[in-house]
Amino acid sequence: MKRIGVLTSGGDAPGMNAAIRAVTRTAIYKGLDVIGFRRGYEGLLDGDVVPLTVSSVGGIIHRGGTILRTARSERFVKPEGVREGLQRLKEYDINALVVIGGDGSFRGAYDLHKLGYPVIGIPGTIDNDMAGTDCTIGFDTACNTALQCIQKLRDTASSHERLFLVEVMGRHAGFLALEAAVAAGAEYVLLPERPFDIEDLCKKLHYAHERGKSHTLIIVAEGVMTASELSSRLKDTGGYSARIVVLGHLQRGGSPSSFDAVLASRLGGGAIEALVRGEAGVMVGRNAGRVETHPLQYSWETRKDIDEDMMALVEMLGI
Ligand code: F6P
Repeated sequence: MKRIGVLTSGGDAPGMNAAIRAVTRTAIYKGLDVIGFRRGYEGLLDGDVVPLTVSSVGGIIHRGGTILRTARSERFVKPEGVREGLQRLKEYDINALVVIGGDGSFRGAYDLHKLGYPVIGIPGTIDNDMAGTDCTIGFDTACNTALQCIQKLRDTASSHERLFLVEVMGRHAGFLALEAAVAAGAEYVLLPERPFDIEDLCKKLHYAHERGKSHTLIIVAEGVMTASELSSRLKDTGGYSARIVVLGHLQRGGSPSSFDAVLASRLGGGAIEALVRGEAGVMVGRNAGRVETHPLQYSWETRKDIDEDMMALVEMLGI
């Protein structure tokens, strides 16, 4: 192995730059050349390349977003797109590819792997919805961003004795919503993984009001419904009037937290170590403090469950 490629794909996540830096510098340290593809698999197909050097990845460890840019490639989902990608990798004489992204990006990497090409995945998404790692790169920073916003909302919610609905990201996963709810001391959290009953929520709000609760924070993951829709349903069913805030893409930006910068550095380094050991078709993850590998498909075939103890905490502490 002489030359590796690296790309970031799917939704960006704070810490992706730290991962690019770690991949590049570890690879160079091990005697390999590194080529970056811009805009994920789109850049691979278009031959949009940039050589990465020790200095070109300097001064990026603290930056949000991804210097390689990212995209959700429709073309790479198709078998002919994957074959074309393989062709490009051969043209550029690249012997292995490192993919930094979420489970959709890993599926593309797996398709390449099935054609016999060496790939390795680094989990990067604010959703934390990938098995094989306790935490994905970006999740901790996104939780902290959401927390800071919700803490500010709590100030005004308590001053005005109001009900606030905060919509956080997570189309299919509620990890971010749950973590933010516990950290911010929210009263209720609605997750895509759990059934939702508007009557039940109204009853809870009613009892809380009777007990003298003056203000309430409800965190809703976007995959359940929009905060605006929830607001209408609370009005129609219980007569409640709420203020709504959509945190949206704010949660994807900003400098990585210490946790994410370290995680990204360890997984970036770990990915190259694994490649050099001869591993391929795997993802690197951090579990109970240790960097380890699993087959790529483990990340989506194994279900990462919502922590029931955390759900119970929201219920118990939100009384
Ligand atoms: O996968 C990360 C994520 O931020 C999800 O939480 C969210 O549902 C989705 O990406 C939004 O994607 P886009 O920025 O393409 O609208």
